[in-house]
Amino acid sequence: MKGLTPSFLLSTSVLFSVAKAVTLDLIGKRKQGSSLLFPRRLKRDDAGVFGNGSVALHNLGDTSYQCNVTLGGKDFEVIIDTGSVDLWVDGDVPGTKDLGVPMSISFAKGTVQGNINTAQLQFDGFTIENQAYLRAEFTQDLGDVNGIIGLGPSGASQVIGLLQSSAGDPPLDRIFQSNPATPNILTFLLSRNASIETLSGTTPLSEQYPAQLTIGTTISGLEAINSAPKLPALVDQFGINQHWLTLLDADGIVANGKKISTSTAIRNPTNGTLDQLHVMFDSGFSFPQLPKAVVDAIYGDIPGAEFIKDGAAASPDLAGLENFYKIPCDYEVNVSFFFAGQEFPVSPLDLSLGGPTSTGEDVCISVYQPIDDSLVGNAASGALDMILGMGFLRNTYILINFGDFVDGSTSNVADPYIQLLSISDKAKIHQDFVNARLGGE
Ligand SMILES: *[C@@H]1O[C@H](CO)[C@@H](O)[C@H](O)[C@H]1NC(C)=O
Ligand SMILES: *[C@@H]1O[C@H](CO)[C@@H](O)[C@H](O)[C@H]1NC(C)=O
Ligand SMILES: *[C@@H]1O[C@H](CO)[C@@H](O)[C@H](O)[C@H]1NC(C)=O
Ligand SMILES: *[C@@H]1O[C@H](CO)[C@@H](O)[C@H](O)[C@H]1NC(C)=O
Ligand SMILES: *[C@@H]1O[C@H](CO)[C@@H](O)[C@H](O)[C@H]1NC(C)=O
Repeated sequence: MKGLTPSFLLSTSVLFSVAKAVTLDLIGKRKQGSSLLFPRRLKRDDAGVFGNGSVALHNLGDTSYQCNVTLGGKDFEVIIDTGSVDLWVDGDVPGTKDLGVPMSISFAKGTVQGNINTAQLQFDGFTIENQAYLRAEFTQDLGDVNGIIGLGPSGASQVIGLLQSSAGDPPLDRIFQSNPATPNILTFLLSRNASIETLSGTTPLSEQYPAQLTIGTTISGLEAINSAPKLPALVDQFGINQHWLTLLDADGIVANGKKISTSTAIRNPTNGTLDQLHVMFDSGFSFPQLPKAVVDAIYGDIPGAEFIKDGAAASPDLAGLENFYKIPCDYEVNVSFFFAGQEFPVSPLDLSLGGPTSTGEDVCISVYQPIDDSLVGNAASGALDMILGMGFLRNTYILINFGDFVDGSTSNVADPYIQLLSISDKAKIHQDFVNARLGGE
C-alpha cells in the first residue's frame, strides 16, 4: 500500500547538553478488513478490563497511530496508547528472557496472553536494558494489531502489579529514570492534511493524518505549548485506575454558538466543582466519549438528525454501530472545548464522519458519542466523565509532564501536569469543511 513507507527518526534535537530528546514520526493506519465507511466501533468494556488498568482497545477496526519499537534488535509496529500503560508485542524477540509470570489482557473484543519477558528496548532514540513487557503467545480477535505501547501513568501498570517490583516499570518510566537530564515530558501531535480530505477519498491515512511523538522535548515550531496554562493531572480519587485526567472548565463546551451546561457524574468529586467534567485524554480512542446530555446538545437539534441505538436495524451500512447520531454530511457542526479559559475549537471534519453507502447515498454519523454507562460512575474505570481521543487530539497539540507520577520519583519532584495548544484555526477549519464537504463553496 502506498504511503506506509518508513519514516522513522525525523530529527534529533538536544535540549540541554546531556538531555536526550527525540521526535518520532507516527503512521496513521486503518486496520485491514475494516469497512472504510464505518469502521467497527468497540467502546463498551465487554471484558471489564478497563477497570484493571488496561484500557480496552476501543478502536480495533479503526484508525490507529503506530510507530516502531525495537525489542532485542527486531522492529515491532505498535499502537501508541495513552489510555494504557504496559507494552506488549506479538512475535519472536531475539534474546528475550522469559520471567515465567503469566499475564493476559482482555480487550473489548479480543485477548492477549503470554508471559512477562524482559529484553532490550529501543524506542524513540532511547535504549533501555531489560525492559519488561508481555510477549504474546496467544492472541484472539485482534486483527492485525501486533502490539501496543502504553503511555499512561504507571500507577495502572499490570506488569508492575504482577512482578511486585519496579523491574516491571513501563517504558516511559524507565526512560525518565535512566535519563535524569531529560525533562519528564511526552508530547504528541495528531494532525490532518485537510487538502486531501473528501468523503470518498482514497488517500492513505498515513498521508491524511500525519502525526508525531516526542519524549523530552517539544515539536519544533510548537514551542509555544511550554507557556500554555498548566492543567493539573488529577490523582484518581478512587485510587484504582490512574489515567491522564484533567478538569474541563465549568460548562466548558460550546456547540453551534450555545454554551452547554455540564455536571459531573462523579459522586463527591474531590477535584473541581460539580459543573466541571473530568476529562481523560486517550490517543488510542478515535471516537470521543461524552455524557449523553452533551452529545444530545451538540447533535440533537440538527435538522434531519436521528439518534440510532442499533445501527444494524437501521441499515446494513451501519451494522456494528450503536448509540450514535446520523446527521447530514453537509451540516457544519462547530464545537469548542475550554480548559483554563483557553478555547480549543474542533474541526467540523472531526465532528461527523462518513461516506457513500452501498446505495450511493452519503451518510454521516456523529464522531462524538455517548460514553457507556459501564464506564461513568464506575470506580474501577477511574474518576472520569468523558474521554477525548483522536477526534479532539487532531485539533490540539498535547504535552504531558509526568512529574512525580514516574515510579520511584522522590517527593521533591513536581506534580504532573498537562498543557494543550490549539492547532485548529477557526477560519481554516471552516474552509477545510467547505472544501471537503461542500465542494469548495
Ligand atoms: C517499522 O519498521 C519497518 C522496517 O523494519 C518498516 O517497514 C515499517 O514501515 C516501520 N513502521 C513504522 C510505523 O514506522
Ligand atoms: C480484574 O481484576 C480482578 C481483581 O484483581 C480480577 O479478579 C479479574 O479477573 C480481572 N479481570 C480481568 C478481565 O483481567
Ligand atoms: C498534503 O497532501 C498533499 C497530497 O498528497 C501533499 O502534496 C502535501 O504535501 C501534503 N501536505 C502536508 C502538510 O503534508
Ligand atoms: C484530587 O483528588 C485527589 C484524591 O482525593 C487528591 O489526592 C488530589 O490532591 C486532588 N488534586 C489533584 C490535582 O489531583
Ligand atoms: C459553523 O461555523 C461556520 C463559520 O465558521 C458557519 O458558517 C456555520 O454556519 C456554523 N455552523 C453552525 C451550525 O452554526
